[in-house]
Amino acid sequence: MRSKIVAGNWKMNNDNKQTKALVKGIRKSIKKLPLNNTRVIVAPTFVNLSTAMKRAKKSTIEVVAQNMHQSKNGAFTGEISAEMLKSIGVKTVILGHSERRSLFGETDAILAEKVNAALENELEIIFCFGEQLADRKSENHFDVVKSQLENGLFHLEAISWNNIVLAYEPVWAIGTGETASPEQAQEMHAFIRKLLQEKYTTAVADTTSILYGGSVKPSNAEEIFSKKDVDGGLIGGASLKVEDFAAIIKAI
Ligand code: 13P
Repeated sequence: MRSKIVAGNWKMNNDNKQTKALVKGIRKSIKKLPLNNTRVIVAPTFVNLSTAMKRAKKSTIEVVAQNMHQSKNGAFTGEISAEMLKSIGVKTVILGHSERRSLFGETDAILAEKVNAALENELEIIFCFGEQLADRKSENHFDVVKSQLENGLFHLEAISWNNIVLAYEPVWAIGTGETASPEQAQEMHAFIRKLLQEKYTTAVADTTSILYGGSVKPSNAEEIFSKKDVDGGLIGGASLKVEDFAAIIKAI
């Protein structure tokens, strides 16, 4: 059975004090929830990873990184490697977020290298992808998503998929307040699952969690999560407020 996941991508938000308060608040608000097969994840900034991990200790909250560099070490000022994340106990990393792709020039080829580096260090990957508004308008969205998956991930062997979570985030829905309709999300998630089945096996398709991201909030979470191929969400803005994030976790 694949896991349900609610993951908060904090992006470049929350200083050290705010990180402590937010983890504490989430911890308190999910304490009594029956989270049987549901993972709760937060992704703070690099500088606050250790703080968040300390605060999340002995709770079910998982603390993950938002990015990493593909090289082991060397002259890459300002970058962080998979080895470094692993050395402080991080187990999962988000890769390929649309902001990394569009603002920081991360290409499919770079992402494939990052994927390999993460897996070599036994890090699980939350791999993000999704089409731009123009792609959807021109009805190219399926082709765009297919090529992002093929170029970033389809070089992997089936066994590596035990460590991959997918996050479909249509760029036009990120931070815009405009959400894909539950039907649009389901349609794309079913398409992705079919690609996995064709490229790999039914087992890979059935066991890979596929999250939806893009303006998920308490008011729309339940309906989106009710779709059969949507296994949870990658949440931006609404993960920064305890009440909203907790309500989204309850929705799942
Ligand atoms: P919003 O939930 O703010 O639209 O952000 C989504 C996102 O980018 C999560 O990675």
